[in-house]
Amino acid sequence: MPGSRIAALGHAQPAQVVTNADLAAKVDTSDEWIQSRVGVRERRIAADDESVTDLAVQAAEKALAQGGRDAADLDLVVVATCTDGDRMPSVAARVAGRLGVRAAPAFDVNAACAGFCYALATADHAVRAEASRNALVIGVDRMSGFLDWTDRSTCVIFGDGAGAAILTAADRHVVGPVVWGSVPERSDAIRITADHPYIVQQGQTVFRWAITDLAPVAEEAARRAGIDIADIQGFVAHQANGRIISAIAERAGLDGAVIALDVVESGNTSAGSVPLAFSKLVSGGELPPDAPVLLLGFGAGLSYAAQVVWSPDPS
Ligand code: UT7
Repeated sequence: MPGSRIAALGHAQPAQVVTNADLAAKVDTSDEWIQSRVGVRERRIAADDESVTDLAVQAAEKALAQGGRDAADLDLVVVATCTDGDRMPSVAARVAGRLGVRAAPAFDVNAACAGFCYALATADHAVRAEASRNALVIGVDRMSGFLDWTDRSTCVIFGDGAGAAILTAADRHVVGPVVWGSVPERSDAIRITADHPYIVQQGQTVFRWAITDLAPVAEEAARRAGIDIADIQGFVAHQANGRIISAIAERAGLDGAVIALDVVESGNTSAGSVPLAFSKLVSGGELPPDAPVLLLGFGAGLSYAAQVVWSPDPS
């Protein structure tokens, strides 16, 4: 059975920077509280006319350019997102149309902040089943459209952004097996509902779950990829909170890895956060090519997914 590998990555963020001081001028908060409790210094916020699809297309174009590939080569488009305003068509279909992809299956995955790891697993499974050879996998969210800007408990946390990966068939499994699941009895702990279209979350419930239950998921993903967790060179977790990321890394024994902390400059971009942070680490030269990297997404659902991938060569 063939495997898949990430051949290229790309990312995109809106131009507008919103600092903690900007938010402290609007709600009762402080730079000190936000940095110490969440780990965010600033975030990027989309312009009114900048859509989920716009961010996704920008990230995809960068990944295609970085991998020296053409949209016509793509035979699958999977987009992880939960913040598009339109019910249909899918963001994936719109992205495929804008890029000029020909006749490929295109669909969205909603696993909230865990979405990119779900989309990556779905595309990897398609490649393994010989249903795809060149897939475009995107994680994107425009959280600013679902924030109550008067609610200090949420508006300081989130941002907008996208990351994209080109996944190609390979003769070895360079995307490791996914370890995924959810906690249905706590599926309402994070939500955006039709009658209250703004994110609300039981912060401490989610925090405790994340630091208690997710280190074993990371360990299991390494075991299933056949790699000692001490040999993992990069750790890219969902960028929800710097304290959560550090706690999971410490519990899982990942302290020798380069740990992505893009939350500092991007906030929590939901499904965008893992590919955005991963793409920045690779393009910034912080991870060498072919380094084993543990990806871990988690969020509403409470859903989670982890897999080991090997980093692409950005040159
Ligand atoms: O992406 C989906 C996954 N989501 C997560 O992983 C979120 C996990 N949870 C967290 O990251 C943290 O729980 C939060 C960052 C959401 C909150 O941090 P916390 O340390 O758990 O704070 P808290 O909610 O317990 O609030 C502590 C205090 C409260 O005041 P009192 O009741 O102690 O007087 C809040 O009202 O901090 C207050 N507070 C704020 N103060 C200043 C809440 N938000 C703010 C704020 N600025 N922005």
